[in-house]
Amino acid sequence: MCGIVGYLGHREAYPIIVEGLKRLEYRGYDSAGIALFDGTDLKVSKTKGKVVDLENLSEKEITKHGNVGIGHTRWATHGVPNNINSHPHLSNSGNLVIIHNGIIENYDSLKQELISRGYTFKSDTDTEVLVNLIEDVQNQEDVKLGKAVQVALNQVIGAYAITVFDKNKPEEIVVARLGSPLAIGIGVDEFFIASDASPFIEYTKDAIYLEDEEMAIIRKNKGIKIRKIKDDSLVAPYIQKLQLNLEEIEKAGYDHFMLKEIYEQPKAITDTYRGRLLRDQAIIKMSGVEDNIKKFLNANRVIIVACGTSWHAGLVAEYIFEDLARIPVEVEYASEFRYRNPVINEDDILIAISQSGETADTLAAIKLAKSKGAFVFGICNVVGSSIARETHAGAYTHAGPEIGVASTKAFTTQITVLTLMALRLARAKGTITSSDYHHHLLELEMIPNKVKKALEYDNHIKTIADIYKDATNCLYLGRGYNFPVALEGALKLKEISYIHAEGYPAAEMKHGPIALIDENMPVIVIATKKGHYEKVVSNIQEIKSRKGKIIGIVTQGDEQVRELADHVIEVPETLESLSPLLTTIPLQLLSYHIAVMLGKNVDQPRNLAKSVTVE
Ligand code: F6R
Repeated sequence: MCGIVGYLGHREAYPIIVEGLKRLEYRGYDSAGIALFDGTDLKVSKTKGKVVDLENLSEKEITKHGNVGIGHTRWATHGVPNNINSHPHLSNSGNLVIIHNGIIENYDSLKQELISRGYTFKSDTDTEVLVNLIEDVQNQEDVKLGKAVQVALNQVIGAYAITVFDKNKPEEIVVARLGSPLAIGIGVDEFFIASDASPFIEYTKDAIYLEDEEMAIIRKNKGIKIRKIKDDSLVAPYIQKLQLNLEEIEKAGYDHFMLKEIYEQPKAITDTYRGRLLRDQAIIKMSGVEDNIKKFLNANRVIIVACGTSWHAGLVAEYIFEDLARIPVEVEYASEFRYRNPVINEDDILIAISQSGETADTLAAIKLAKSKGAFVFGICNVVGSSIARETHAGAYTHAGPEIGVASTKAFTTQITVLTLMALRLARAKGTITSSDYHHHLLELEMIPNKVKKALEYDNHIKTIADIYKDATNCLYLGRGYNFPVALEGALKLKEISYIHAEGYPAAEMKHGPIALIDENMPVIVIATKKGHYEKVVSNIQEIKSRKGKIIGIVTQGDEQVRELADHVIEVPETLESLSPLLTTIPLQLLSYHIAVMLGKNVDQPRNLAKSVTVE
């Protein structure tokens, strides 16, 4: 949460920072700010609102010249989103300027201490405390900025990625990270700093990702020194070659990133199984699984931890792992798991699922499981992310950057990876017949084309969206493999259209939610042919008797549900275990169109941020 951008070099910093902040707005968009050193003085401009509001303000407020600067787009933690709480924050002397992503948990005691020493504060933020703490160290110990940052950070409890500089020494920027990501792009006599590499991808492909508890002192003509925050030891910089392309982070003609990402799913799923699903050889090749196959085969159980949409992918995996590989699975919200003193043994395997690879609760759950001796496997989309680095082994989803805040292609590609894993393990354990295994491989290979077919119903879904866009509540029902899809469909509608929606196992409807059903209640029922079709049809009858409006997600050619439902949306036929990869598509499109029709900001829904790096 919160996006950080910085520049130190020979170009104008302003356009790099502002364009970079726009690319990082998925991380938070409550307020935005920039600090530029214009050659003689520091100019700070900040405002509640989005980066475009900052641009409008900057037109009037600050000169846009200068080769050193830092910028921030905020997702508020301490202090409401307003102009004063926006970053950057200055120290009392006005010399130091900082931007920060994360939370300083002990900020209040540090603040009281600083107040007792005469410091004053303008904002309610923990960040302003940190910049004054750094200044206080400088004053007390007469040390350089890098040392002062290090000493101050050793007093801090919490998570951070920070970027700070002194207006009297603008040829140097100090950055540090613990729990929030920070990348440094390295050009020729220039440096870029950002929460991810997207702000500097057109300038350099060389980047250093700081590790937790590391800080870097970046000097204009002297390069970078990386140190451990705790003990000051030097770390040799590891420069990575970035694979990211500019086109991947642009909208490519779509109105929204979310729509682009929905339409990218056939390719994303293919990219996920490419090189792993080798159907002609009848094998699944995943090095993270292969290298640890004994651990998987001897595991007592698999515990899956994740949040939000990734948690829904975990629920789908519970069905497929148990069904095909006969491995007991528990799926937990990472935020609950980490705090409930769970029983974890050395023969447990923890699978952590995260698109961003930065979700604080998931990361904490991983650390907990590792401390108890469990083997931890990560499924992430963002290469080199904290979770990818923290796990013992893992598999990337290769979905490409997901920028829309509502997760779409991350979900289907996570399910694809989990399906490959379940099939590989089922084969190794002998819990799947050879013909069933081959059938799965064949069907999985055909999924991208079937997703394309499901996308062809877009216009029809738009018509349905128009009919139900003014609903205030919606119910999503599914059974078996499609129960998690119902949860995911409801989440998608809630988060981007702000319509209240609930997902339920269809049979649970009778135990409460049925009371909500009347002629105003749209009920979206996933009723594909394979699985518990007849049972779901009975549930549809029950809804119809109570005059609920039924939107059925059905298998192509279905007649029975068509007779009962107010509308049907068809998806191609596939195996029950693979059906979530198809049934989720119309639900994504339905939410998207409703949100657009209601005039909501689809890519940046209120109060949300793409990666939740605070707990
Ligand atoms: C929903 C959504 C969130 C994320 C959740 C976990 O559309 O995007 O619910 O799924 O915050 O994020 P990751 O997968 O990055 O750990």
